[in-house]
Amino acid sequence: MSQLQNDCFIRALLRQPVDRTPVWMMRQAGRYLPEYRQVREQAGSFMNLCTAPELACEVTLQPLRRYRLDAAILFSDILTVPDAMGLGLHFIEGEGPKFERPVRNAEDIHRLPIPDPETDLRYVPDTVRLIQSHLRGSVPLIGFSGSPWTLATYMIEGGSSREFRKAKGLMYDQPELMHALLGKLADAVAVYLNAQIAAGVNAVMVFDTWGGVLTTEQYQAFSLDYAKRILAQLTRSRDGQTIPAILFTKGGGLWLESMADSGYDALGLDWTINIGAARKRVGHRVALQGNMDPVALYASPESIRAQVKAILEAFGQGSGHVFNLGHGVHPDIKPEHVGAMIDAVHEYSPALHLA
Ligand code: CP3
Repeated sequence: MSQLQNDCFIRALLRQPVDRTPVWMMRQAGRYLPEYRQVREQAGSFMNLCTAPELACEVTLQPLRRYRLDAAILFSDILTVPDAMGLGLHFIEGEGPKFERPVRNAEDIHRLPIPDPETDLRYVPDTVRLIQSHLRGSVPLIGFSGSPWTLATYMIEGGSSREFRKAKGLMYDQPELMHALLGKLADAVAVYLNAQIAAGVNAVMVFDTWGGVLTTEQYQAFSLDYAKRILAQLTRSRDGQTIPAILFTKGGGLWLESMADSGYDALGLDWTINIGAARKRVGHRVALQGNMDPVALYASPESIRAQVKAILEAFGQGSGHVFNLGHGVHPDIKPEHVGAMIDAVHEYSPALHLA
């Protein structure tokens, strides 16, 4: 693997000095870009897009051609792992993901295989290798997975949910069974992320989109403990380069101290917490990634610039901040508004990194 020409994202995650704050955006390859919609149409379905390395590589690179981004993120989905476990994933237009064979009882859980990433999920490491052959060290590539808890919610509910009645029902009524599922998922995710690392990703991120719906005690026992179980199994360097790991729990603001003790290099923040207050709470233990409200991108470019400045200044002087949204960009955001956000990070952040 070649040396990175732009490593400010990796350096910020490791809290090493940088000359400006790096920036990338969750869902940066997506429907808000007309060039994405064109390839998505050509693919026919979202799963066809994910499983065709040439197309997944193309959409990964699209946002980098438009914007001055400091990282690429593998184009895929967190639900490819349960799909490879045999649940039968498909996406219904306007309704989101659906599983044909959701997990409901002990037998379903004990039967789940741990997928072999180089065979069952072969298209993912193939896509990573192809993207890296195009990036050639220009910027780092982020690999990712869902957290065990977040994956379990989709697997038990059979799709998206508001109340998580079935998933929480299983957790309350049969906690041992939920632990059996989460343990299996943590091990499957670790193998999967290690395959992405072996194929060439430069950092990994665990998306715990639904950790925030748990009680404090449940968050520790059913989400964070399994995020740690993944980390304990990860290959954390390759060819002498550290592969930083980021943990993003949406709605995790209450639990930053215990997340900062988890061993992850960085925490992703949603928009509800002030990033300066978060920095005081985590101290020097971790870097922080975030945290502009994705809905702020509907406002005028002047307002977007003011938001960017406020977040950069709230974090304050020094390294350890990766600028991002607090969740994924919405599909009807104007591409120029994304550009205004990214340009504002480039313009305002060097002042925060003067020696
Ligand atoms: O960030 C990126 O640019 C990389 C690509 C990426 C996608 N999904 C592409 C995608 C990543 C990192 C994900 C993660 C993901 N997928 C999460 C965790 C992060 C988060 O957003 O909370 C979750 C919960 C999912 C599950 C998922 N995938 C849902 C609920 C949906 C349907 C809702 C929607 O936005 O359409 C998806 C589909 C999906 N994943 C799309 C994209 C670009 C849209 C499908 C399309 O373009 O047809």
